[in-house]
Parts: sequence; C-alpha cells; structure tokens
Amino acid sequence: MKKKLAILISGSGSNLQSFIDAISENSLQAEIALVLSNNADAYGLERAKLAGIKNLVISHTDYESRESFDEALAEEIKKHSIDFIILAGFMRILSPDFINQFKDKILNIHPSLLPKYPGLHTHRRAIENADEYHGTSIHLVNEELDGGPLIAQAHLKLNVQNDEAEVMKAVQKLEHQLYPAVVNLLVQDKIRIKADGIYYDNKKIDKPLLLGKEII
Ligand code: GRF
Repeated sequence: MKKKLAILISGSGSNLQSFIDAISENSLQAEIALVLSNNADAYGLERAKLAGIKNLVISHTDYESRESFDEALAEEIKKHSIDFIILAGFMRILSPDFINQFKDKILNIHPSLLPKYPGLHTHRRAIENADEYHGTSIHLVNEELDGGPLIAQAHLKLNVQNDEAEVMKAVQKLEHQLYPAVVNLLVQDKIRIKADGIYYDNKKIDKPLLLGKEII
C-alpha cells in the first residue's frame, strides 16, 4: 500500500505542487491524503482542490494557544493514518508535544544550506555575506528551529550580481526537484530514520545527501 503524506502549508504551495506533479508522473510512490493550511488564503489550497486532494484550513487564530492549535492539527492527522508529515512553507513553529507525537515522521524544507541561516531572509543573508554557495536543505523536525538532523541538500553557486528575487527563484527550482525525490526515497525505505541516525542504502550518512550526486 502507498505511504500516506500530510502536507502542511501556509502560502503559495509551489512545493506542494511539486509533490502533486511527481505523483502524477509516477516519480513519487506516495499518496497525499491531506493538505492542511493555517491560512485560509493560501494559494496552495487551490492547488489541492484542483488536484482533488482533501484540504482543510485550521486557523491558528481560532485557538488560544500554540498547544491547542497543534492538538487540532494532530487530531486531523491521526484520522488519516499518515506516514509522513511534510512541512512545505508552513509558517508556524510546532510545539514539543506535537513533535514528540510524530517523532521522526516530520520533514521540513528550508531555503539555506543549514546549519547556515536558520530562520527568515535566508537569501538576503547569503547574498550580503557574499557566500560562494547557497541552496536548500531537507531536515527532520525536532524542537530546535530549523535544527533537526539533515537529510539532503541541493547547492547552487551564487554570483555577485544575483538579487534576492533571482536567488529565491533558483532555490525554489531546486526545492521542487529535491523534496519529492527525497520523500520518494523515504517511502521506499532507501532512506531510513533510525534511533542512531539517518541511513541511505543501509549505510549511515554523516553528511546530507546531495541532489545530483546521490539523489536523481
Ligand atoms: C520554500 O522556499 C521553503 O523553503 C520555505 O518556504 C517556501 C515555501 O514556498 N520553507 P511554497 O509555499 O512551497 O511555494
């Protein structure tokens, strides 16, 4: 049976679209059982509707605390026997309770080469620091913001003329290849999350897998 994904979004949902496309092209052997958004205006909800995927808004503004909002999310996720929770531009910090309930099942994509630039404005910070390389990272979610174990990365070379919008576009293009490909490796058990670390092809990895090298 295909593994089930819940994809959590807050905005445009271009990463969600890359999952929808990968599934329809058969390059991702999984099912999106549920799209959840904390924001009723997220364009990603339209993408889910167009693809006929169950979608739901759970607005954090309707809840008194982070914990009660997270409980509502967890309840919905549990109804669908989800295998992996895919954060794709989900702009809420999850509480420790939520994270522990779904330990090693929550993935996030972050637009920088972590551990560089956790948080916001990653492209601006990479440009201002005149970094030679920038990119995107997929990691497991733990209690540290953008700090969980790294699974995979994709790099691009920056050049001095690049502006923020250009870099964002280039990074997102990489994200759309990397994220579904990594999740496909996970659902096929080529990547395994074990108590002592992350394994790829039965070997424990000591650095993130790279797009173009190990992946695709
Ligand atoms: C992506 O760039 C991702 O790295 C970050 O938020 C952005 C989401 O974009 N976490 P989209 O909503 O998938 O278009």
